[in-house]
Amino acid sequence: MESLLIKPVKLIWVAYNSNDNARSAKELLNDFDKHYKEIKEAEETLYALTDRHIETNESKKKRNKLNIAIEFFLDRMPKVFDPFAGGGAIPLEAARLGCRSFGNDINPVAHIIQKGSLELPQKYGKPISYSKSEFLKLYGKDEWNKLSNEDLVIVKGEALGVKIPNRLSFDVAYYAKKLLQESEKEIGHYYPTDKDGNKTIAYYWTRVGNCSNPTCKADVPLLKEFYICNKSDRKIYLNPIIKGKSIDFELKTGDCDLDGWIHSRKNLRCPICGNNTSNAELKEQFLSGKIKSRLLSVVEEKDNRKNYRLPTEIEKNITSKIVERTNEPTESLPVEYTKAFDLCNWDS
Ligand SMILES: C[S@@+](CC[C@H](N)C(=O)[O-])C[C@H]1O[C@@H](n2cnc3c(N)ncnc32)[C@H](O)[C@@H]1O
Ligand SMILES: [Zn+2]
Repeated sequence: MESLLIKPVKLIWVAYNSNDNARSAKELLNDFDKHYKEIKEAEETLYALTDRHIETNESKKKRNKLNIAIEFFLDRMPKVFDPFAGGGAIPLEAARLGCRSFGNDINPVAHIIQKGSLELPQKYGKPISYSKSEFLKLYGKDEWNKLSNEDLVIVKGEALGVKIPNRLSFDVAYYAKKLLQESEKEIGHYYPTDKDGNKTIAYYWTRVGNCSNPTCKADVPLLKEFYICNKSDRKIYLNPIIKGKSIDFELKTGDCDLDGWIHSRKNLRCPICGNNTSNAELKEQFLSGKIKSRLLSVVEEKDNRKNYRLPTEIEKNITSKIVERTNEPTESLPVEYTKAFDLCNWDS
């Protein structure tokens, strides 16, 4: 991983080099400042180059100069390696101090998080200048028209290019919007707006198990708790309404002191007859395909915040409209690394 190029704490640097008796601390600090300045200058020269993303002799030369300056700097710094780095906190902090830092993890999710927080921002989270023609090629006319005037390079009244302060965040926002538009086209009709024009953004589902008491056999939502929103300033929960063997819900605000129906050993306690359906029996129901699902709540966007409501009858049946997908993966899940990556290995 490259340095984050945040000026490191000098004290740490001096302490690390304290056995370098041949040189005084002042000399070492000057040396450090020299390399740091070289990085900054090389960055400025490279980032001032229009269309630096295109590999030309000039861009290559400037990029090499920057890489060499970074390497010189890092050679004077401690190396930090966290072999079990998880979310990457240790390599990130080490890099913020200017160290040459490395992260590793067996869990692919942790690895991707590390890439996202440690590697890609260093490589791509930098300024870039595009000529108008290059920008249009990469992002199209609509995006050009959305650029703010202060980012445009205007010469004699004509916009000839644009200066993007952070290439990575620009790209993340651009592609996120693009993905959203594509998803909207494909599945937007499953998330209709309600009669007041509020857009549905998520559905809150539960699995439904069957009480193993032969005289009860009630369908019971497998719920560990009833909150659908549990923040310090906002609490909303599903309050069960039980009539005979039917379980309905209303939404309530405030603290919920009800015990969930799935208990610590993952057994189901039936709220109707009090019977315990064991985890093994539930597993059996899952494997034989008896477990159903049920829509409990709809999350919509209202006045720029999330609003929770009960589903309408149409929404309750929305799954019947889902066209079966044919491109889902069919290969078996790897099960040998279950400690690092929690997998449900119920079919073995
Ligand atoms: C406690 S977390 C790391 C926390 C991290 N050092 C921090 O400061 O935030 C331990 C990590 O070790 C990873 N891990 C466990 N066994 C491993 C192995 N054999 N090789 C690499 N990573 C492993 C796990 O996936 C987990 O992300
Ligand atoms: Zn029961």
